[in-house]
Amino acid sequence: MFPVRHHSSNTMKSLVVFTVFFHYVAGVCYFPVEYQGIFATQSSVSSLSQGTMHQYSQVTILPDAIPVWGVCHTKFENNVILRDSTGGEDCYRCFHVSLHSGNVIQIYTEGLNKCYSSETAALLTCPTLHAIKTRRVSEIMLYKSRSFTQDGLIDRVFCPINGRFHFTYDVNDGTESSVECPEPSSELSNCPRGSELQLRFRRCSFGELNMSLRCLGDWRGHDGQRYLALWDPAVTTHNQPRYRCAMYSVDPATQKVYLSFSIDATCTNHLHGPWDGYETMELFPLTPPSPPSVVLTTACDFPRWTEGAWQHLLIDARELFALYSTNQCGEDEFTCIWIKKRAVNVIEYQMGVSPSKVYNASRICSDDVFRGQTWKTQGRLSPENLSGCPITGEYTGVIPDATELCARLSSDCSDPQHMHYTVSSCRNATEVYEERDYRCLGQWSEGGVMYTFTHRRDVDTYECFAGVVVNPNEIFIIEAGTSCQRGLQPLAHGMKLVRQATCSEIQARMTSTPPPEDPSSRPSWWPPTTKNPWVKKNKQTPLPEWNNEIPRAAHSSGSDAPHSLVTSLLAAPLLILLLAAS
Ligand SMILES: *[C@@H]1O[C@H](CO)[C@@H](O)[C@H](O)[C@H]1NC(C)=O
Ligand SMILES: *[C@@H]1O[C@H](CO)[C@@H](O)[C@H](O)[C@H]1NC(C)=O
Ligand SMILES: *[C@@H]1O[C@H](CO)[C@@H](O)[C@H](O)[C@H]1NC(C)=O
Ligand SMILES: *[C@@H]1O[C@H](CO)[C@@H](O)[C@H](O)[C@H]1NC(C)=O
Repeated sequence: MFPVRHHSSNTMKSLVVFTVFFHYVAGVCYFPVEYQGIFATQSSVSSLSQGTMHQYSQVTILPDAIPVWGVCHTKFENNVILRDSTGGEDCYRCFHVSLHSGNVIQIYTEGLNKCYSSETAALLTCPTLHAIKTRRVSEIMLYKSRSFTQDGLIDRVFCPINGRFHFTYDVNDGTESSVECPEPSSELSNCPRGSELQLRFRRCSFGELNMSLRCLGDWRGHDGQRYLALWDPAVTTHNQPRYRCAMYSVDPATQKVYLSFSIDATCTNHLHGPWDGYETMELFPLTPPSPPSVVLTTACDFPRWTEGAWQHLLIDARELFALYSTNQCGEDEFTCIWIKKRAVNVIEYQMGVSPSKVYNASRICSDDVFRGQTWKTQGRLSPENLSGCPITGEYTGVIPDATELCARLSSDCSDPQHMHYTVSSCRNATEVYEERDYRCLGQWSEGGVMYTFTHRRDVDTYECFAGVVVNPNEIFIIEAGTSCQRGLQPLAHGMKLVRQATCSEIQARMTSTPPPEDPSSRPSWWPPTTKNPWVKKNKQTPLPEWNNEIPRAAHSSGSDAPHSLVTSLLAAPLLILLLAAS
């Protein structure tokens, strides 16, 4: 349906990612690494005598181009102008690009069949929010099929429809008015893998059917609705859609979920609301089994600082259960959790490795259960704005493994919870390759190393940094992964940053020169780099991991076994809901 042009898959070599980097040409911009990868997009859906044909084509997002569509020419806010020179003369198109998860990108454009001879003309066609809301521009859904990471695998994303349900199911293809599965006897759950919906259709007009859909990402659309993108790995023919877009809504009173699907891989065709789509489902949540009586009869105090919603952890202080945990599948167990408060908005935890169905405190919390475990770091989802960043003022340094690139890290002097990071050419500071925006959630010192946990606002991810402050004018900093990795050596392997100006110097500078741009007007997505600018090339960066599984196997790196805290936690019971995506 969208005139997406095919291009051969062998134009893409992962090497390209690294070689294009330094050949800067005027009028080139870069896509953040989070946007890059190989994607499938629906190219056509046709009705033939033997049924419907769903065709997909491949779209590759390189650091500086989307081959066939054009080279990244300029970017602002969510818009990018691509320059296409394949026809001999340059022509320009404007695209509105939204990253909804590591696997889903939604693009709006006037149409790929239109192209303008000047950037200015293309600029006037950038989709407005009004045009997007009223569906007056073309939508192109990109579903990631391969990433540029070593294993090429796409991210595991936790399904927003969480738990076990019974459901009814109806197909609205206009050929009949009966409901295919009228009784709520069919079953849906994201068990055992939190990233996959298992559907079991039962007592339906078409008989029985099993299906497994992988959640690719969920987001709030410009129309205010919740959307969910799904991939059916079992579809290998063209007769069925491989990718699906759905809308859903949860009734806050009953927890009932309304889910409806579009007819194909778009989020628009035959999809009008959570109750109104090509296929609709009503999901009735199953009541989880009630906890064992020992849980109900044990009442204890609970540390206030743990309360609230964390990245992958819900701690509910109203239901205090003694070291009793349950996952989305209703699997429950007694286990030992060791939680440390690192800052107002940061906690770290370790789970005991020997969970048990039976409550025996001395066994599940014995010294052995934390041996070899590593800390999982969690940021508060609605952070209190108390903590500042580890630096104030403006620092610069040189990327350790790419000395032609210069980095600048500056605190927001009017709002000390924010830091701004840019990587640019050392020769020409206006050639900016990457910009990042951090909110510091908290920091703490351990073994002479300062750990800072941050929320990256431009791509909505969490990152930890390890640093050493040599003196107020000199710091060394290294990326420490999504959970603060211990044992890194910022002084030996990190990037050295030297202070160029204090906040008062910056403020003095500002009074004599025009004020810099208002941070709130900064683009919401940033030019990127393909490198990790914080670490040396030969250094192993911890891969983002789902650190929310109920750990059953021991991890390798060492950490001291807790004693006193475990004991105090025995008097501090809690219910935690652990979300396991993989
Ligand atoms: C669906 O899966 C269930 C549970 O794994 C199995 O018992 C049933 O036979 C399957 N049904 C079909 C139609 O494959
Ligand atoms: C609890 O576990 C400990 C250590 O394994 C064991 O010695 C004790 O007998 C257990 N208690 C009960 C009531 O099973
Ligand atoms: C947090 O920020 C809000 C809005 O910026 C402000 O009104 C409030 O006073 C701040 N709270 C603290 C504790 O700084
Ligand atoms: C620096 O880069 C800009 C493009 O961002 C270019 O216009 C300018 O000419 C360059 N300056 C030098 C000295 O190369």
